[in-house]
Amino acid sequence: MSQVEIPGYTYGQPSVQPSPVSMEDLEHIQSCLLWSDEDVQALRRAGEILGPRKEEILDVWYGFVASQPHLLAYFSRPDGPSQEYLQRVRARFGRWIEDTCRAEYDQRWLDYQEEIAQRHFTRKNQTDGAAAEGTPPYIHWRYINALVYPIYATVRPFLEQSGEPPEMVEKMHQAWLKAVLLQATLWARPYAKNEAW
Ligand code: HEM
Repeated sequence: MSQVEIPGYTYGQPSVQPSPVSMEDLEHIQSCLLWSDEDVQALRRAGEILGPRKEEILDVWYGFVASQPHLLAYFSRPDGPSQEYLQRVRARFGRWIEDTCRAEYDQRWLDYQEEIAQRHFTRKNQTDGAAAEGTPPYIHWRYINALVYPIYATVRPFLEQSGEPPEMVEKMHQAWLKAVLLQATLWARPYAKNEAW
């Protein structure tokens, strides 16, 4: 699956701990999202469109983060943003676009969702070592939730430019929204009081 090694990207590796979320919980969340096989198919097609353009998409997202000081702060030390930290995370974020479109929703996938969740909260700054040193210890949940919208909205032009008919563009876009919401919901787990998640 992997072509070039991405620093800190550990999907499927033994170091990734089992998620405390059960497969049954995952299926329940998917049901709430009106998840269907059609979404999986639409995401696969979206991956063919978004994957090759991931650097352009990342330019949009990074521009968005850079334009909002309260977001850029999470990548910054008192003397300013850590370019190395931004770059290292960017590479994994690019892979995440592809992973989101080809996800199998198996145990490995679920485990890596918990890993990403903890990287935003309890284990922020551990993966990137010195590059992340001195940056804030965790990302506030409120911004993860709110960022679902721009991450959803900004892929639309890329899907439209594929030349797919409008109905297919809409299907891919809705499937992408469900996929991002699904993950953001899983990433909330460590932030919530155990039984309340
Ligand atoms: C890490 C996606 C919200 C800052 C990551 C990674 C992904 C990602 C894919 C890399 C995971 C890996 O290590 O393999 C997202 C998505 C979000 C979101 C889809 C919202 C829906 C935010 C927000 C911030 C943020 C609001 C605040 C600026 C970071 C940082 C890391 C990171 C600093 C690196 C954490 C570490 O030290 O390991 N994010 N993120 N993210 N994200 Fe987010």
